[in-house]
Amino acid sequence: MNADDQKRACGEAAALLVKPGMTVGLGTGSTAAWFVRALAARKLDIVGVPTSVATAELATSLGIVIKDLDEVSAIDLTVDGADEIGPALALIKGGGAALLREKLVWEASKRCVVIADAAKRVPLLGKFPLPIEVVAFGHKTTMARICDALTECDLGVAPRLRVKDGASVKTDGGNLIYDAACGRIEEPALLAAALKSVTGVVDHGLFLDLADMALVGTPDGVVTLEP
Ligand code: 5RP
Repeated sequence: MNADDQKRACGEAAALLVKPGMTVGLGTGSTAAWFVRALAARKLDIVGVPTSVATAELATSLGIVIKDLDEVSAIDLTVDGADEIGPALALIKGGGAALLREKLVWEASKRCVVIADAAKRVPLLGKFPLPIEVVAFGHKTTMARICDALTECDLGVAPRLRVKDGASVKTDGGNLIYDAACGRIEEPALLAAALKSVTGVVDHGLFLDLADMALVGTPDGVVTLEP
């Protein structure tokens, strides 16, 4: 199976975890989109809570009933992709700039399942640049303070403002993204705390102790991982 086949296979496997009556967090990205398509094809009586405008549009177009996070009392299961899956299912997310809504939905969920192709598994987080979402006001000042926080964590990297087609990328919440090419994140919890302590940082793409299970597509089929 190539990477896209692997994404599709784990999205389809995750859709089988959904039971009628569930409220389901719908992730963002190409792998999560396979999950949303497979879920829609099952035509279950469920409610979806999308983690981005893009996922909301996809889910609605496929006939899935969606609600906002604040309209549901609980989320039974969230299924979402990742940019890196490290030891203990520590993750880097946010390649699709949806990390804030994703984390809000993940944290409100009883169970979170991450789905990804085999290339996303890493022995140590950090090769994928860590997305950091910041408010637009004073973002260069915030970036300088992020650099200090990274230096405190022995990560001497200068985050780069995410730009697409010549314009800075705006998240669904109107914020900006800086990507920090850390290389090796030896102590993700320390880094997560240091980044959150910077005023102007809304959130970052480290998802620690949140994933309950991973379904990873491999050339030979889907494998299940637990923390
Ligand atoms: C979006 C994300 C995505 O889940 C992550 O970027 C993986 O995307 P893909 O499934 O397209 O590889 O975190 O913010």
